[in-house]
Amino acid sequence: MEGITDEAYRIALMKTFPEWDQFFTDFLRVPTVGKITEKMIVEHYGERILAREDWRQKNSFQILTTPRAQTQAVVEILESLKMDHLDLNLGCPSKKVNSHLGGAYLLSNHDDLRKVLRTIRTNFTGHFTVKMRIGYRNDSNFSDSLRLIQDEGVEAITLHARTRDQLYKGVADWSYIKKAVEEVKIPLIGNGDVWIAEDIEKLFHDTKCHSVMFGRSALKTPWLAKIYKDYVEDGGHIDDTYLLYQRKQYLELYFEALMKEYREIGWAENLILKRFKSFSRNLYDDYENFEAIRGSFLRSESLTEYLDHLYALKG
Ligand SMILES: Cc1cc2nc3c(=O)[nH]c(=O)nc-3n(C[C@H](O)[C@H](O)[C@H](O)COP(=O)(O)O)c2cc1C
Repeated sequence: MEGITDEAYRIALMKTFPEWDQFFTDFLRVPTVGKITEKMIVEHYGERILAREDWRQKNSFQILTTPRAQTQAVVEILESLKMDHLDLNLGCPSKKVNSHLGGAYLLSNHDDLRKVLRTIRTNFTGHFTVKMRIGYRNDSNFSDSLRLIQDEGVEAITLHARTRDQLYKGVADWSYIKKAVEEVKIPLIGNGDVWIAEDIEKLFHDTKCHSVMFGRSALKTPWLAKIYKDYVEDGGHIDDTYLLYQRKQYLELYFEALMKEYREIGWAENLILKRFKSFSRNLYDDYENFEAIRGSFLRSESLTEYLDHLYALKG
């Protein structure tokens, strides 16, 4: 996720909540002009993650590209680095990105989409997946997009069940995930408005999708994979008091792990504080007096003050 899943963040999460099966980098925008270097690619992915095979398998590299950009050059570097998994972004709804023929735009122009898919597939032997939406303006070419993607050798599809024009409005329509599962033979990963363990269960049950991807809910509950795996082990039972008790404990683990990783790479305290404040937006809205709680985090003038507020939280 853009602005979030840098290397330090992914390492902190892998160490603290190993129940997550897979992480993705935020998208690397493939440049149209200028030299592309291995250093750029390694920095985006993370040198320490690249050095460990078990971490490489858990971390997918996402690119956002256009028919005019230097896709081949980037993919050749990814190939030479023995990258395990490359994911193509076909979901970004940003006006700027779309006007440059990238992100969800490619769902509206199948010639351009085919060109990009072929360039990647021809030059990359690792796992190649895409992350898409239902369509650009509407769902009219949804089935054709799925077929094209599958026919061009993509190995799995993550579907955020909204069109580009829907941005993040309303609720994701999971019936499209079910439809996609029925229409393609490759694994389909469902995404959009999966917030709690029961949602995961329902999405699997209703759509028969292969896996689930989390965006905002992973920011709101960074230990959601653990909750879900415990839930399955306990035969689909969740004890609310257990969840409330764990929440404080997990929040502390989360921030302590992040702080350790950011410090290790030399981030200044005020930069870490700024990052922590940006996470506050998602984290505390289950607390009864969440406005006041969030306010106190956002007003913190030092990392110590932020952590003091965290340790003072009740359950
Ligand atoms: C802060 C933020 C950053 C995101 N960055 C990316 C990104 O880099 N690549 C991508 O494919 N999707 C990105 N997304 C979209 C999510 O992957 C996901 O498709 C979307 O949020 C819907 O899922 P959710 O309801 O679980 O949030 C981002 C979403 C958020 C909230």
